Amino acid sequence: MTRVFSGIKPTGPVQLGNLLGALRHWVADQDEADGVFCIVDLHALTVPQDPVELRERTLELARLLLAIGIDPERSILFVQSHLSEHAELSWILECTASFGELRRMTQFKDKSDGAEFVSAGLFTYPALMAADILLYDTDRVPVGDDQRQHLELARDLAIRFNGRYGDTFVVPEAAIPKIGARVMDLQHPTRKMSKSEDSPQGTILVLDDLDAVAKKIKRAVTDTDTEVRFDPEHKPGVSNLLSILSACTGEDPAVVADRFTRYGDLKAACAEAVVETLRPIQQRYRELAADPTGTKDILAAGAERARAIARPVLDRARTNLGLLAP
Ligand code: TYM
Repeated sequence: MTRVFSGIKPTGPVQLGNLLGALRHWVADQDEADGVFCIVDLHALTVPQDPVELRERTLELARLLLAIGIDPERSILFVQSHLSEHAELSWILECTASFGELRRMTQFKDKSDGAEFVSAGLFTYPALMAADILLYDTDRVPVGDDQRQHLELARDLAIRFNGRYGDTFVVPEAAIPKIGARVMDLQHPTRKMSKSEDSPQGTILVLDDLDAVAKKIKRAVTDTDTEVRFDPEHKPGVSNLLSILSACTGEDPAVVADRFTRYGDLKAACAEAVVETLRPIQQRYRELAADPTGTKDILAAGAERARAIARPVLDRARTNLGLLAP
């Protein structure tokens, strides 16, 4: 069976981009693949975190993933730091990656540019991400468009390692959706929606109050002329709304555009589609919140199942590298 692996950082509330670009596809993938889904708390440490908040967010994120539809009977859901194998393989892959290729990562450039403190971990972040993926003999990695370059690196590292030390890792493929892979900020439609940007009116949180969600969409920035057309380059605001609506309904944005002649109608339809997408998730989240121990038990069982896959892969890498068995 095809193995699917993906991860999300517990660094802030989950936003609509995470849902449409990645999480919905994790849920759908469970039907035809063997899913391994990870809350990547070690990745969150590349910038300073409040310890109490980090712990709470990790558990809340697990609950949200269950509410969205990750099924612990079929898939593995676990927390990255519960397995030491990730950090261990990360070191090996840091020694496989070159300084130059890590320096070319655009996310590193964006996040380090102008920052007062740039951790070494922010620089080596993609090696840890490659470790996450390669530990599970992963065939396919469902992610949003912003992870494309990291995925390319994971593939390059797998190929390089296999070339040097013999067949060790499965070379993974990125699975980036055609629609919704880059949900943009509603107020600044030329930059992506992000949980770490300070743009509350431009960002829809999956757990936002539903009336607030509708208002944010109705107040979204549109473009100067009045034509409803799917043209991300020249009409970023309208095209973003069309993408969001089509990602919710499973249609083609250019076809959806033909149904509207006025921005107001497009906004109303988009608001309704998003609200109806979020409503059942929020309801299920509230139900799960009543039973926090259940979520912890699921994560503990997930870590055990994850280790059963990851440990032999790490041992294979250690042996092929020539590390003496303990
Ligand atoms: P993270 O936590 O930033 O985001 C989780 C997922 O959401 C997608 N995403 C978006 N998709 C569409 N539009 C947006 N505006 C948007 N914002 C975020 C991301 O592409 C991602 O798929 N490095 C990863 C986490 C990670 C990982 C991994 C992913 C660590 N190890 C191994 C896959 C495999 C990250 O920071 O995602």
